Amino acid sequence: MRQLRVLALVAENLVPPESLEGHSDKAIDEWKTEFDVITTLRELGHQVEVLGLSDDLTPIRRAIQKFAPHIAFNLLEEFHGVVTYDQAIVSYLELMRQPYSGCNPRGLLISKDKALSKKIMSYHRIPSPRFSVFPVGRKVVRPKKLHFPIFVKSVIDDASLAISQSSVVYDDKELAERVAFVHEHTMADALAEEFIDGRELYVGVIGNDRLQTFPIWELWFNKSDTAIIATRKVKWDRGYQEKLGVETGPAKDLPEATQRQIERICKRVYKALDMSGYARMDLRLRADGKVFVLEANANPNLSYGEDFAESAEVGGLSYEDLLSKIVGLGLRYRAPWKV
Ligand SMILES: Nc1ncnc2c1ncn2[C@@H]1O[C@H](COP(=O)(O)OP(=O)(O)O)[C@@H](O)[C@H]1O
Ligand SMILES: [Mg+2]
Repeated sequence: MRQLRVLALVAENLVPPESLEGHSDKAIDEWKTEFDVITTLRELGHQVEVLGLSDDLTPIRRAIQKFAPHIAFNLLEEFHGVVTYDQAIVSYLELMRQPYSGCNPRGLLISKDKALSKKIMSYHRIPSPRFSVFPVGRKVVRPKKLHFPIFVKSVIDDASLAISQSSVVYDDKELAERVAFVHEHTMADALAEEFIDGRELYVGVIGNDRLQTFPIWELWFNKSDTAIIATRKVKWDRGYQEKLGVETGPAKDLPEATQRQIERICKRVYKALDMSGYARMDLRLRADGKVFVLEANANPNLSYGEDFAESAEVGGLSYEDLLSKIVGLGLRYRAPWKV
């Protein structure tokens, strides 16, 4: 690939240092994705300028005017603390006629709203657990056709915020309590879904028009019979991960037909939710072979060695190739201003 001017957009508190030396594992965990992406883009020969952002758009405009980046590499997950505002930043980039990496504003807006995504998936007959939304400030009345056990989470938040083993509830009293808990801890409406007892699968999808899926990935616990749920602690607590023997890797012994079916479903979700760039789908596979889509994650974690990059690698795309591909897709994305 030719050498490009790349403007890396990162959260102000996650601007990585030049080297890992002298930093604790805990500190590195914070900005590892930013570090991996920026150093690798530089190793690929690109000229990377890093822009730390928190709540001001002016630096973006200034950097676009001064540095004239071929592409903005979007590593933002929020803007002034609001997780859904990444969509507004990408909209701003489009208004500035600036190509960027990752998902377009519409795909971000849709996929970050789990309830809206599920409504769209339902129209397309994409299998997803039956659900109901319980808005903040309203009484919890369970529709009769929503059966226990039920899984309660935030409609908007990600990273398993407010998700633990207690997210599964078995009666109306527990449901009301857990909905109140989600309201209080996330400030967002609560999404109550039928709990899908089964295997937990993740699938990377990449592309704008022509889509590619990465090998199907699975989460399991080696040292514990704890129900397989990707809770907050499972995702982020190293000690707890060690205790449970949390591991992810290529899903084992999936029948060929199930694999094809899952890949097809993931591509349909990507299209239905108007996604572009790259994404990771979260799914559950029940013992009876039925597949359910839990959610679509636009712009998933790009850390070297994390699930998305690992599954890309097993699928034949090295980390360098993966980032180059993401850059290429960003350059080629047909934003409305280009047409
Ligand atoms: N309906 C469900 N049935 C079973 N497990 C679920 C369900 N919904 C969520 N989970 C568990 O909770 C985890 C986090 O939920 P998810 O919808 O992916 O939200 P997040 O955006 O926080 O990742 C999932 O990876 C899965 O382990
Ligand atoms: Mg998830």
